[in-house]
Amino acid sequence: MRSKIVAGNWKMNKTLTETEALLAELSAKLPDTDAMVMIAPTHVNLPGAVRNLVHSAIEVIAQNMHFAESGAFTGEISADMLLDIGVETVIIGHSERRAYFGETDGLLAKKVSAAVAKGMKAMFCFGEELEDRKSGNHFAVVESQLKNALFSLDAAAWDNIVLAYEPVWAIGTGETASPEQAQEMHAFIRKTIAEAYDTSVADDVSILYGGSVKPGNAAEIFSKPDVDGGLIGGASLVADDFVAIIKAI
Ligand code: 13P
Repeated sequence: MRSKIVAGNWKMNKTLTETEALLAELSAKLPDTDAMVMIAPTHVNLPGAVRNLVHSAIEVIAQNMHFAESGAFTGEISADMLLDIGVETVIIGHSERRAYFGETDGLLAKKVSAAVAKGMKAMFCFGEELEDRKSGNHFAVVESQLKNALFSLDAAAWDNIVLAYEPVWAIGTGETASPEQAQEMHAFIRKTIAEAYDTSVADDVSILYGGSVKPGNAAEIFSKPDVDGGLIGGASLVADDFVAIIKAI
């Protein structure tokens, strides 16, 4: 079901002590909103965050998981481990996982399928690099990322998919896609899904924008009809900024 979502991806930031302090501040300042608010702390701090937010509307989500049930995968985390501590949504395919940890569309397809098979929500990230946009290849790149990782899912599985379009050139750079560029790509994504499935799958999926969303640009980006919210990096580490972005939706 399509919903408004503001999610904070904390990446490899915040110790448990700092996590608890930020969550206390966020909980105290959280505005009334129809949007779903999520935060993704690093794995080791997930249980602490879940405990801290037990009476809160903020959902704790994970930044990554492995596709296997269990086994000899040193350093990895399974869906069951996340579910057991109360984490039901997982970010998959962040561009930093693709760039620094060699995650390919094929691997991401397995992760998404594994998450969905466990009844988890997969927040699938994708987006083009600067060279792709400069060469006018951005639509083709995005289409192939979607096709390779997601289009073997059956239509029912899309109830458990959230998309996060994050152009790589806008992540952590201070350079954001213009609201028009975001809308143009989100509309293209919906059209591509409608062609692969049908319009009800396309219309029901939430598509977030990510990449240098700040209090000053959030409202304009979120006002676009195909933008259902944001996946926020740097600004989600500062309570007042994250709260301002939640208010913007
Ligand atoms: P920034 O908001 O810091 O650009 O990061 C975006 C992001 O990567 C969220 O996943």
